[in-house]
Amino acid sequence: MLSYTALINDATKQLYDTTETPRIDSEVLMQHVLQKDIAWLIGYGDTLASADHSKAFYDLVAKRHSGQPIAYLIGWRDFWTLKLTVNENVLIPRPDTETLVEEALERLPKDRSIDVLELGTGSGAIALSIAKERPLASVIAIEYHDKALELAKQNGLNNNVTNVEFRLSDWFASIDQSERFDLIASNPPYVDPNDPHLQRGDLRFEPITALTAPENGLADIRNIIEAAPSYLKDNGWIIIEHGFNQAKEVAELLGKNGFSQITLHKDINQLPRCTCGKKGAISQEAKKQ
Ligand SMILES: C[S@@+](CC[C@H](N)C(=O)[O-])C[C@H]1O[C@@H](n2cnc3c(N)ncnc32)[C@H](O)[C@@H]1O
Repeated sequence: MLSYTALINDATKQLYDTTETPRIDSEVLMQHVLQKDIAWLIGYGDTLASADHSKAFYDLVAKRHSGQPIAYLIGWRDFWTLKLTVNENVLIPRPDTETLVEEALERLPKDRSIDVLELGTGSGAIALSIAKERPLASVIAIEYHDKALELAKQNGLNNNVTNVEFRLSDWFASIDQSERFDLIASNPPYVDPNDPHLQRGDLRFEPITALTAPENGLADIRNIIEAAPSYLKDNGWIIIEHGFNQAKEVAELLGKNGFSQITLHKDINQLPRCTCGKKGAISQEAKKQ
């Protein structure tokens, strides 16, 4: 019999060529098996592991070795201030997307009721983060895939966020012509279907419908930007997450569709990741930050 720490050391070696973070991954999988936090592992890691724990741990290590994402193996991921349940029906929320949430919150007042639309909610990450930070907001979260929408709803309940309405829809199709928003946010599929990164890392296991779009990844972004002005209030904002190499095209699309105050924002890795534009006024050239 081996201690928990010895099992983690062994798994770290096994996962060395699979992941850039073999030690952390091994510790997270062990925490999941034991349902204990890292402090417990540090304090009691020399405890001998039971046969059941050892088997459950090595089963997960084998799955991780085959490339399966940690978030799917443990069933959740932290995003913003939320703990979100995730499974193979939704994209795993990325820290990159917190840039979009920050920019949305910059533009949304705390002290009055506002209307927000999120297109392509997946796990609910964006809509729920905004709704939690702005309790007076009414947020509509749109998703095309029913299993993803069900999970997003569940995440709303689990995180006690009550000001989000979840709607099954193909982008704006279920939005009434009379509905108008102060802000529209979207992290749509934007990967070029021929991008070799789709064959690497977590992307191999995530739903392809959440990842790729035709026209070099720009088709959904274009559809959303073209339709958005009809659904925004005057001076309303659009915020779009996109690929690090799509900033120029996105800024051009926003300019062509009458948006102004177009600004580009970098993600946690300093990559240009999200562009904002305001409905109305005269279009300005994208301002890099
Ligand atoms: C890149 S994922 C973003 C998920 C989540 N918002 C996030 O940031 O983690 C794009 C989402 O858009 C959804 N989607 C794709 N096409 C759609 C459509 N036509 N209408 C509504 N949602 C769509 C996908 O199912 C997926 O959940």
